[in-house]
Amino acid sequence: MPSKNSPIGVFDSGVGGLSVLRAIRALMPEEAVLYFGDQGHAPYGSRSMRQIQNFSEGITKFLLERGVKLIVVACNTASAAALTYLRGRFSPFPFVGMEPAVKPAAETTRTGKVGVLATPATFQGALYASVVERFAAGVELFQHTCPGLVGQIEKGELDSAQTRAILQDALVPMLEKDIDTVVLGCTHYPFVIPIIQQIAGEKVRVIDPAPAVAKRTKSLLEETGLKNRSRERAPVRFFTSGDLKGMKSLLPVLLGESGEVEKAVWKTDCEIETPF
Ligand code: DGL
Repeated sequence: MPSKNSPIGVFDSGVGGLSVLRAIRALMPEEAVLYFGDQGHAPYGSRSMRQIQNFSEGITKFLLERGVKLIVVACNTASAAALTYLRGRFSPFPFVGMEPAVKPAAETTRTGKVGVLATPATFQGALYASVVERFAAGVELFQHTCPGLVGQIEKGELDSAQTRAILQDALVPMLEKDIDTVVLGCTHYPFVIPIIQQIAGEKVRVIDPAPAVAKRTKSLLEETGLKNRSRERAPVRFFTSGDLKGMKSLLPVLLGESGEVEKAVWKTDCEIETPF
């Protein structure tokens, strides 16, 4: 049975979830974490809902076998495709998921025009439709999938000419329509906030949902009696189904801390080998 000292599980298709992990570390450094980046399958954004569900289920089982007490689905795409499924399949285990932050954007926009950047799977999912229906009445949304941006960030190209070009293509038409807010609906995108802000100007508000997700994680741990009360900084263990060196070299850049990365090998679409 998981206890207060058990780790939190956090997963994403790759390094994007590190933007959420960064916020969790800032808020709760005493919580141990197992982070899983499914880089062998990234990007998730153009895959089928079924496939993303299978991967998410496999990763959830992998994390549960290692004794996690709560799982943060630090990926909008996996949340869109699989969060409801995971909650049903592993009930009553606690999950925290992501949804594009349309609500805070709709509450604060002055022009009534908001840009949303997310993957194709996130835009197609029922979760996004429901967020739009519930919170975006009277607000005009401009959506863009930023093709290739996740791959650029996975390569660590946070400020290359190609990364800038992708963001220009996405943002310039929205800016011409007078958006004053940009919602980051993909956990990879907070790593390019400086470029977004350069293109959009400092007056445009860019919403990174990671701090709110970290707060939600903390309150859920408190509600379930699973909050760690230690004052010591706990470690993070990193797993990738892709390139070990690639993830290891990005940790200091994206997360601001280094760590060892362990290899996870997929046996089938929904099962990871567990040799240890
Ligand atoms: N970081 C992800 C998200 O929040 C997934 C991006 C991808 O793999 O396409 O949507």
